[in-house]
Amino acid sequence: MTPIVILSLLLSLLPSSIRAASTFSPARPPAQPLAVKSPYLSAWQEAGSDGGNGGYLAGQWPTFWAGATLGWTGLINVDGSSYCWMGAPLHFNTVDQVSYNYTSSSSTYVLSVDGKVQITATFTSPITPDDFKRQSLIFSYLNVDVVSLDGSEHDVQLYSDISAEWVSGDRGQVAQWEYGTNDSVAYHKVYRQNQGNFQEVNDQTEYGNWWYSTTTDKGYTYQSGIDVDVRAQFGNHSTLTNAADTNYRAINSDWPVFAHSFDLGSVGTTSTSRLFTVGLTQQDAIQFLGADGVVPLPSLWTQYFPDEVSAVVFVQGDYATASSLTAKLDAKVQSDAAAVSDDYATLATLSLRQAFGGVQLVGTNDTQYLFLKEISSDGNIQTVDVIFPAHPAYVYTNPLLMKLLLEPLFVNQEAGQYPNSWSMHDLGSHYPNATGHTDGKDEQMPLEECGDMLIMALEYYLAANDTDFLTKHYKLLDQWTQFLIQEALYPSNQISTDDFAGPLVNQTNLALKGMIGIKAMSVIANVTGNNASASNYSSIATDYITQWQTLGFNTQASPAHAKLNYNNDSSWGLLYNLYGDKALGLDLVPQSVYDTQSTFYLTVNDTYGVPLDTRHSYTKGDWESWVAAVCSDEVSEMLFSELAKWINVTPTNRPLTDWYDTVSGDYNGGPFINRPVMGGVFAKLVLDMGLHP
Ligand SMILES: *[C@@H]1O[C@H](CO)[C@@H](O)[C@H](O)[C@H]1NC(C)=O
Ligand SMILES: *[C@@H]1O[C@H](CO)[C@@H](O)[C@H](O)[C@H]1NC(C)=O
Ligand SMILES: *[C@@H]1O[C@H](CO)[C@@H](O)[C@H](O)[C@H]1NC(C)=O
Ligand SMILES: *[C@@H]1O[C@H](CO)[C@@H](O)[C@H](O)[C@H]1NC(C)=O
Ligand SMILES: *[C@@H]1O[C@H](CO)[C@@H](O)[C@H](O)[C@H]1NC(C)=O
Ligand SMILES: *[C@@H]1O[C@H](CO)[C@@H](O)[C@H](O)[C@H]1NC(C)=O
Ligand SMILES: *[C@@H]1O[C@H](CO)[C@@H](O)[C@H](O)[C@H]1NC(C)=O
Ligand SMILES: *[C@@H]1O[C@H](CO)[C@@H](O)[C@H](O)[C@H]1NC(C)=O
Ligand SMILES: *[C@@H]1O[C@H](CO)[C@@H](O)[C@H](O)[C@H]1NC(C)=O
Ligand SMILES: *[C@@H]1O[C@H](CO)[C@@H](O)[C@H](O)[C@H]1NC(C)=O
Ligand SMILES: *[C@@H]1O[C@H](CO)[C@@H](O)[C@H](O)[C@H]1NC(C)=O
Ligand SMILES: *[C@@H]1O[C@H](CO)[C@@H](O)[C@H](O)[C@H]1NC(C)=O
Repeated sequence: MTPIVILSLLLSLLPSSIRAASTFSPARPPAQPLAVKSPYLSAWQEAGSDGGNGGYLAGQWPTFWAGATLGWTGLINVDGSSYCWMGAPLHFNTVDQVSYNYTSSSSTYVLSVDGKVQITATFTSPITPDDFKRQSLIFSYLNVDVVSLDGSEHDVQLYSDISAEWVSGDRGQVAQWEYGTNDSVAYHKVYRQNQGNFQEVNDQTEYGNWWYSTTTDKGYTYQSGIDVDVRAQFGNHSTLTNAADTNYRAINSDWPVFAHSFDLGSVGTTSTSRLFTVGLTQQDAIQFLGADGVVPLPSLWTQYFPDEVSAVVFVQGDYATASSLTAKLDAKVQSDAAAVSDDYATLATLSLRQAFGGVQLVGTNDTQYLFLKEISSDGNIQTVDVIFPAHPAYVYTNPLLMKLLLEPLFVNQEAGQYPNSWSMHDLGSHYPNATGHTDGKDEQMPLEECGDMLIMALEYYLAANDTDFLTKHYKLLDQWTQFLIQEALYPSNQISTDDFAGPLVNQTNLALKGMIGIKAMSVIANVTGNNASASNYSSIATDYITQWQTLGFNTQASPAHAKLNYNNDSSWGLLYNLYGDKALGLDLVPQSVYDTQSTFYLTVNDTYGVPLDTRHSYTKGDWESWVAAVCSDEVSEMLFSELAKWINVTPTNRPLTDWYDTVSGDYNGGPFINRPVMGGVFAKLVLDMGLHP
């Protein structure tokens, strides 16, 4: 064989995605968000080298955050030739990817079909923090725009399907489906035949209905059936049969798929587009143990729509409004974050959707809650020390969301459903069951959670001016404060939120959180007219913080620094709990402490950031973001630039991890994936709000 033949043979063996290089802006995230709207609607394209393909839409299947394949296909026929532009179906050549970019709510791929036609595929998961009707809908858009690239007219047909893999984490489960139209909306409805109410398998939900809809338009056809058959029908005939497969069967048995296709006719330099919508409807979303025992709580969208078809039809018709609301938020986040730095904007825009992808609005018009899943680390619901790192994203976008997150924790404990005096760790060991811990045997982080609740309660008040909230919960807030007064100065042997590091006595950062919690309570007492307690708690906090500056610091070291734990001069750690002092405008901690830490961090950074503490080389991106928010500009620039650099090169291939190695950039422990805690990136923008008593 001549060298040229050998070369072309070799090239033909390469994955087609390597043939043309795409650009990535502002970064190539470890996993690219496709449809990310709740703990259950969470589809991504893995990019990092641990298992991803570098960030290409075609040539690899999208996955659920936890790693399972979600069949989601895009095909196109141009002048009689077939190509794949999304997913990895057999027997199709893939298109070339030109660019990928993301904003807070969207991912956009520009693809070239043999230089003839350009596809722009925009995945938008609307974030509308002030608009509960839209925020409560668990749906996400895929808009596909097609235009001639070479100036000539081309004969074009477009196709997209989803598989039944969306409806259960158990691929042996039997799926059922139906096709329907309403107004000009065509939909495939797919669901687990034997509904598993409130159940999960591999973190996927086991009940409710999944929808793949589009707007019927010129040249529309549909089909359901065996994956290879339906796709071959499109590839060979450029049209679907409008036939329904009624052989309901297991998800993995002849893989049923649900397809839409359009004959776009002759496409020239005027672009034409089609809109697809994927989503989930569940009548009841959460089981909640409040004052009246365990009750099911409806998804909040049920308050706005008489039935699920009405919701689907609304969503399909709402793209213009939803995407313009979302574009406004995108622009606000981009401009606020870019005012800090471009690196910070890279982080903030990637983190916001992940923070909102961990929560879900439920309840009725009278009583609304926002429930959060402790995604990936253990699946707990309403984990206080996960809400805490995540909470800046919610305070920044709409402080009312904070109240809806905290309220169920208050309701449960005030109803006497939790026997311990301190704040609980979570409302239940597995989402979506907020059934509490009546035996008091939750994961114990008493100091952590009491401090977190007091700080977040005051932060919500300062952002929303809601005195009633503090008055209503004063008794429990005061009960937690008593615990802090006993425990905060010399924290006993216990875990902090960083539980993977194990327990430790006299943790400097944990003590600080307790003291800030006491000071927060003095402000709460003040605004609720409890004057005696206000001055008492304020002086206790001041006394403690004075002692803490001696107990918790190594002032002999050069440079001086906070210790990880009292009595160990060679230890240190990220003192991220300073955030509460600054965010609440408490002025409890002297500026000299901030300055000491700023000087110190500059001496201990590694390739991808500053380690969490002296015990390991790993760190937490959420806590680095908190530290960056309160420290000097120099430290802030160092941490944000290293995090932004890390996002681009980390081999991790799943939705943004918050726990990674500062030397290798890879997972180290965990892996923690897709946790809402990355909302902590917004700490800096909350400080910019200038909240104060
Ligand atoms: C992303 O790419 C699309 C398509 O090229 C473009 O219209 C859009 O302006 C880009 N957005 C950003 C934020 O770069
Ligand atoms: C459309 O859906 C609504 C809500 O389910 C229903 O009331 C209406 O009859 C449907 N219309 C058609 C034409 O099917
Ligand atoms: C939630 O509770 C129900 C019983 O009410 C149970 O069937 C289900 O498996 C639980 N879900 C999870 C995820 O543990
Ligand atoms: C056309 O159909 C044949 C089977 O009849 C199949 O092998 C081939 O892959 C199909 N072509 C496309 C482009 O799907
Ligand atoms: C809930 O409130 C919205 C307006 O905010 C209203 O449109 C809707 O009808 C209400 N739903 C119920 C069940 O009261
Ligand atoms: C806060 O609310 C009180 C009433 O509770 C009101 O008097 C006051 O003007 C409000 N302050 C701000 C800044 O809105
Ligand atoms: C905690 O620190 C205090 C102050 O240095 C010390 O007296 C106490 O022994 C420490 N506790 C433990 C269990 O080491
Ligand atoms: C509490 O202090 C406020 C001023 O901070 C004052 O207006 C109020 O009268 C005091 N209330 C009591 C009961 O002393
Ligand atoms: C309450 O806060 C106000 C305003 O900061 C302050 O003037 C007052 O002294 C405080 N009262 C108490 C009892 O701390
Ligand atoms: C201050 O609060 C502590 C803890 O609740 C209590 O033991 C003490 O008696 C209070 N002091 C005053 C002067 O109220
Ligand atoms: C002090 O901290 C260092 C760094 O974390 C650790 O290696 C050492 O074992 C600790 N010493 C004691 C006595 O705990
Ligand atoms: C942080 O450490 C890296 C080496 O790991 C170094 O290249 C970089 O200059 C350091 N940054 C600062 C601000 O010291």
